[in-house]
Amino acid sequence: MIKVAIVGCGTMGSTHARGYLNIKNAKVTAVCDLREEKGKAAAELLGAKYYKSFDEMLKEDIDMIDICLPTYMHKEFSLKAMEMGKHVFCEKPIALSVEDAEEIVNKAKEKNLKFSVGHVVRFFPAYMKAVDVIKEGKIGTPKLIRTTRNGAYPGWSWQNWYADYKLSGGPLLDLIIHDIDWIINNFGDVERVYAKSFNGKVERQDHCLVTLKMKNGAIVHVEGSWAYPDGAIFGTTFEIIGTKGQIESDSRNSSPVKKYTNNGSYSISLDTPLFPEEEPYTAEIQEFINAITEDRQPKITGEEAIKAIKVSLAAIESSKTGESVEL
Ligand SMILES: NC(=O)c1ccc[n+]([C@@H]2O[C@H](COP(=O)([O-])OP(=O)(O)OC[C@H]3O[C@@H](n4cnc5c(N)ncnc54)[C@H](O)[C@@H]3O)[C@@H](O)[C@H]2O)c1
Repeated sequence: MIKVAIVGCGTMGSTHARGYLNIKNAKVTAVCDLREEKGKAAAELLGAKYYKSFDEMLKEDIDMIDICLPTYMHKEFSLKAMEMGKHVFCEKPIALSVEDAEEIVNKAKEKNLKFSVGHVVRFFPAYMKAVDVIKEGKIGTPKLIRTTRNGAYPGWSWQNWYADYKLSGGPLLDLIIHDIDWIINNFGDVERVYAKSFNGKVERQDHCLVTLKMKNGAIVHVEGSWAYPDGAIFGTTFEIIGTKGQIESDSRNSSPVKKYTNNGSYSISLDTPLFPEEEPYTAEIQEFINAITEDRQPKITGEEAIKAIKVSLAAIESSKTGESVEL
């Protein structure tokens, strides 16, 4: 049984917490959050001990730390956990700079620890199915890939940390990294990046458009939005055009359960019924736990997470200079 501790029990920490309830070979024994109400809610759900201090929690007998903190804290907390000999699963993006990300990956190697990053799109059924169809050769060679990831500004966050792009990277790093990781993983390396974004000039509202020229000649368009009104349904799409056919998916049309809830404010969301172990956030954590127990490399490696931020950081540079960036 792998003993796990979660640090950061906000939006993603509580999502991961629910995932662990369906994992049989791991148990969350401790959770940590500066905000007592968030930490204690997760502790109660999981039957775990609540800590306000990460350093105190690290003294516990724990095998793995699951880091769900704001992005600007990923490096500091990953390194601390690894120094204490803990395996680390860290939310995406791995870090805000390539140097920081490399420090994390090198520390994991030096300490012979498992490390992975929450590039969860690789575990979403529609995206997995598309990959299968492509690998079976059903649409020939992919030449054009278009993805969108659109919703409202993440206004839920602790201290509104997403609004400061020096802490979050904005949507070019924080949001569309999901699509970028999936694209690199399935269509190969990127040669050139061109991007447009408001870059935080408009408060709580942004939109980004990125064009990628892939080394294999394919063209990719990635769109990401924090421009929708609060409460808007979050949606993702992809379209892959090959030499013999095409695949498309729209999460707003393909999620059969529509939920209307009023917990203080009215909201509408979409659900796809899945077996508990297929739920993407559960599946990504299960894969990492299995990498520990089987002593093998996790499906998502630190090096892959670095490749993804290199493209996002190039997109940020391009959106600021107006020039394309060669990788
Ligand atoms: N995979 C996904 O789909 C997805 C979605 C959203 C966010 N994320 C990523 O997850 C990470 C967390 O984002 P979030 O939206 O959950 O943020 P959040 O603001 O909702 O939660 C962060 C939590 O960390 C706590 N915290 C801050 N400093 C702390 C400290 N020193 N010690 C203990 N707790 C501390 C805060 O109290 C808060 O509860 C980010 O890297 C973000 O990019 C991933």
